Amino acid sequence: MKYICIKTAVIYLFTTLPLFASAFTQKVDITKSVMVGDRIAKFIPAGYDAKSIPSFAIDKEPREQGALPPNWELIPDFTSTNGKANASLSIPEGTSIYGGGEVTGPLLRNGKTIKLWNTDSGAYGVDNGKRLYQSHPWMMGVRKDGTAFGILFDTSWKAELSCTNQKIELKSEGVPFRVFIIDRDSPQAVVRGLSELTGTMPMIPRWALGYQQSRFSYTPANRVIEIADTFRQKKIPCDVIWMDIDYMDGYRIFTFNPTTFPNPKAVNRDLHIRGFHSAWMIDPGAKVDPDYFVYKSGTENDIWVKTADGKNFTGDAWPGAAAFPDFTYPKANKWWRSLYKDFLAQGVDGVWNDVNEPQINDTPNKTMPENNFHRGGGKIPAGTHLQYHNVYGFLMVKASREGIMDVRPEKRPFILTRSNFLGGQRYAATWTGDNGSSWEHLKMSVPMSLTLGLSGQPFSGADIGGFLFNANADLFGNWIGFGAFYPFARGHACAGTNNKEPWAFGKEIEDASRIALERRYILLPYFYTLLHEASTNGMPIMRPVFFADPKDLSLRAEEEAFLIGDDLLIIPAFANHPNLPKGIWRELSLVEGDKQNKYQAKIKLRGGSIVPTGKIIQNTNEKSLDPLTLLVCLDSQGQAKGTMYWDAGDGWTFKKGDYSQQTFTAEKDGNTVIVRLADQKGKYKTENNNMAVVKVITEQGIYHASGDLTEGIEIKL
Ligand code: NOJ
Repeated sequence: MKYICIKTAVIYLFTTLPLFASAFTQKVDITKSVMVGDRIAKFIPAGYDAKSIPSFAIDKEPREQGALPPNWELIPDFTSTNGKANASLSIPEGTSIYGGGEVTGPLLRNGKTIKLWNTDSGAYGVDNGKRLYQSHPWMMGVRKDGTAFGILFDTSWKAELSCTNQKIELKSEGVPFRVFIIDRDSPQAVVRGLSELTGTMPMIPRWALGYQQSRFSYTPANRVIEIADTFRQKKIPCDVIWMDIDYMDGYRIFTFNPTTFPNPKAVNRDLHIRGFHSAWMIDPGAKVDPDYFVYKSGTENDIWVKTADGKNFTGDAWPGAAAFPDFTYPKANKWWRSLYKDFLAQGVDGVWNDVNEPQINDTPNKTMPENNFHRGGGKIPAGTHLQYHNVYGFLMVKASREGIMDVRPEKRPFILTRSNFLGGQRYAATWTGDNGSSWEHLKMSVPMSLTLGLSGQPFSGADIGGFLFNANADLFGNWIGFGAFYPFARGHACAGTNNKEPWAFGKEIEDASRIALERRYILLPYFYTLLHEASTNGMPIMRPVFFADPKDLSLRAEEEAFLIGDDLLIIPAFANHPNLPKGIWRELSLVEGDKQNKYQAKIKLRGGSIVPTGKIIQNTNEKSLDPLTLLVCLDSQGQAKGTMYWDAGDGWTFKKGDYSQQTFTAEKDGNTVIVRLADQKGKYKTENNNMAVVKVITEQGIYHASGDLTEGIEIKL
């Protein structure tokens, strides 16, 4: 322990002493530049020591593939300020900058600076530079001509990330780090490149694409079932009910309140009977209580984060004084994993890891002191909280995922996390934390989820209706009207606020919510296809409008409308003269009355696309493709194309070929359109047996026919 303390003190002095000197910046040489992928280069500065700065963002260390091509333009500058490492990249004039992960403010990041220091930031403002819960040291630039590049700063140390019109810069408080630069033909290709470096989100169960209902908190247990029953009785589709912290016994993680949740197994069973799945919260802090099994075994196993002088650190969290597992330490990871066995045995489906920045209420910085000590192990060296703070949540959800996989290897985990780090899509999905029931937050949720998508996290959404403060009918109706299309579509509300379920605001909003969610469920085959795409190449599900035409400069700042995949344009009811892509985009009606309902987003289908849709179901256990309906919008040449990915909806047999990936084509010949199955991969038999209804959406109206896709379906216009 003595050794640990001296080492901690040395590291701490090294990182804080220069604060007292005046800023002195010097250039640092590049010692290595090498290609590591298709137009992906790696740059190493002098003084870089791989052993002292492990990479968390990079999934698998990419193989070095030789020298940079002679025409390679993007070379970073490395500097050091009072011994602390920085890197920057000069950018071409007229570049539009995006990324930086979870941020407030606009989609376009030119002129913005953010601190990379994960922070509990309830009621965050709209564009005040306030820190949020996650850090993504990554930015993407789109040049005037539509080509694009990205820069990944491979450090978890506390840092500041700024973007001017001249350069993108990261100033860290730590040791020298390497930089990866991707330079490709389009922003889409750069986002794919990011996933080549940081990995993709694994497939999650199909039920996670359904609507989800939460509140802080539904308690006691029969309130949970009452909420579930109300969805079914009112025929509002829903798949998941969330259990927030009040289910616990005095906020002790991995316990259940004996009075309000005496039989969690029965709660899960009763939800399952009704076609719901459940998600339950687990925070990182364990209550300091010598009689509590988690605290006791954590202490016996000596896995808590230490103070600079080697004691177990404790800080105020939901249960009062709490100790925090040191997830850098392999023994702590193993111990944490083991806790999920009995917990999941209660029939728990999804897990919600919250307040894992970690949020601590009684310290000046609302988290651990920067000189707290992490023991590390394996490839992670011992170090201060200053180095590991930003990956605390990331390492927590990694351990959670591993724990869940230990217990239920045959199923796909679904984990939601508040805190995370670049690359953390490999372990968990996310939501945008404690927003408020306000128009500003409603609108800002679009650029927030888009930016997460451009930063490697394809599965996010904001609390529909807003978390803090009371929501009113109009706000809720507007919110669910487009929030139904967030990749992660969940309503949530803070304790003490008004009820925010779809029926809580009267009949008009209840009807509007039903329409919005029915539209979402009709699009399930399309969403599932996009989820699969995200899991293979990192393409976000929710995409910025400029993806439709990266050369069209008028689209670069559009952040009211957004795309779902490449083919559907979503224009929220609040949108005020959004800039939309040129070309053929035809408005769709998916549910009776949707076009006339003032709360619904407009949905437009891209010319040249075929979008697979299902029927209205109340939850994803029901058969969706019964029938499969293909929505076709021809391009100016009279052609269209689309794909559908489908499989069992959970489990991993799809990796062994048990999936179906179909490609459909449409071709106009005179007054006839023929739609056929052009390609079929995988051995999974979809329930529609290649039968489909086809709807061709034209300027003159909608034409339909049905039949067998393998024979070709003819539609007379
Ligand atoms: C903070 C989370 O952001 C919020 O969603 C949750 O309801 C509260 N913690 C209580 O657990």
